[in-house]
Amino acid sequence: MNTLLCEDISWVGAVDWNLRDFHGYETERGATYNAYLIRDEQPTLIDTVKAPFVETLLANIAELTALDEVRWVVCNHAEPDHSSGLPRIMGALPNAALVCTEKCRQTLDKYYDIRGWNLRIIRQNDALAIGKRTLEFIQTPMAHWPESMFTWSPRDRVLFSMDAFGQHYATSERFDDETDLCKMYEEAKIYYANILLPYGGAVSRAMAAAAKLDIAMIAPSHGLVWRGHIPKILEAYTRWSSGVVAPRALILYDSMWSSTALMARAICDGVQAGGAQAQLHHVRRSGLTRIATDALEAAAIAAGSSTLNGGPMPMAAAALSYLQGLKPPCKAALAFGAYGWTKGGAEAVQSCFESLKWDIIRGPIRAQYKATTETLEECRAAGRLLAEKALEAAKY
Ligand code: FEO
Repeated sequence: MNTLLCEDISWVGAVDWNLRDFHGYETERGATYNAYLIRDEQPTLIDTVKAPFVETLLANIAELTALDEVRWVVCNHAEPDHSSGLPRIMGALPNAALVCTEKCRQTLDKYYDIRGWNLRIIRQNDALAIGKRTLEFIQTPMAHWPESMFTWSPRDRVLFSMDAFGQHYATSERFDDETDLCKMYEEAKIYYANILLPYGGAVSRAMAAAAKLDIAMIAPSHGLVWRGHIPKILEAYTRWSSGVVAPRALILYDSMWSSTALMARAICDGVQAGGAQAQLHHVRRSGLTRIATDALEAAAIAAGSSTLNGGPMPMAAAALSYLQGLKPPCKAALAFGAYGWTKGGAEAVQSCFESLKWDIIRGPIRAQYKATTETLEECRAAGRLLAEKALEAAKY
């Protein structure tokens, strides 16, 4: 089923109600793959869908325009959730040329046999006249992949923003002002934290380009379209991409025989006593997606692991590895953990923090076998120091 966005522009994408895992990102509310058809003199498709949803896309287009009338297919991003349908789509749209950058062509060429495709390679500042409209292209490398770009329709003031401003959120509604905004905003935050967080600089540059536009509608490639709350999502992206944090400490831990758990709770008590907010996650109870989302706006992070076989517990290692890849900007940080006859858990945490160049407030707090009263007091004191750092760093 398609949905009219504004004069001549319709959503023709697909809803993936059952998606629960997007390369490891837990998508508990499903996803959509958005594609948009502009019915101008030269009908133009902006973005496409994941391969299993191609027939839905083609049926949605066919309700509006004969498939052989589609003249252009714009590929804003080559990641397979948007491009894996292209081999079938380019065959089904016999008179369409694919519009993309040279970088995008090179990526598509690695994934698919593109030899039979008619291509229009666009360069910086190129435009494409499709009738009443002239589409403009804004290259936004690394927001999310090297070939990422936005497409802008000045006539409609619609920004087709690919992954940026998207949400993994399957709904029957298509617009922000038709849905539960709290859920949508939360999904946009989860999306940013798990997909775009390592690319804050690239997102800031894309935001600067978007700021020059008088936008009436942001049509991302996932989730709902922004039209009623554009300032809210632009302000959130400005905050997230510039590393603005809340007065909050995130405490992560895994524990073998409860000592590291007691230390985590003592740190949590210290943070609260110091006047900051605290969030505590046992890494085998909370998923990585939630942990990354809570890390996004935390001013401070304490992470602890018991030592297992000379290193961290497996899920603590997974959480550290995930955070290391996502590279949240500088946090006040504290490592802790219990050990027995050999160390390794707290040390692995410390080494992760060092690689992230975070502001490590002191050396790791360790407990041999059992966390003593003195060790727990040390943890509470460190928690108070984390609170102080978090309150200093917080901008809202
Ligand atoms: Fe939705 Fe980066 O792909």
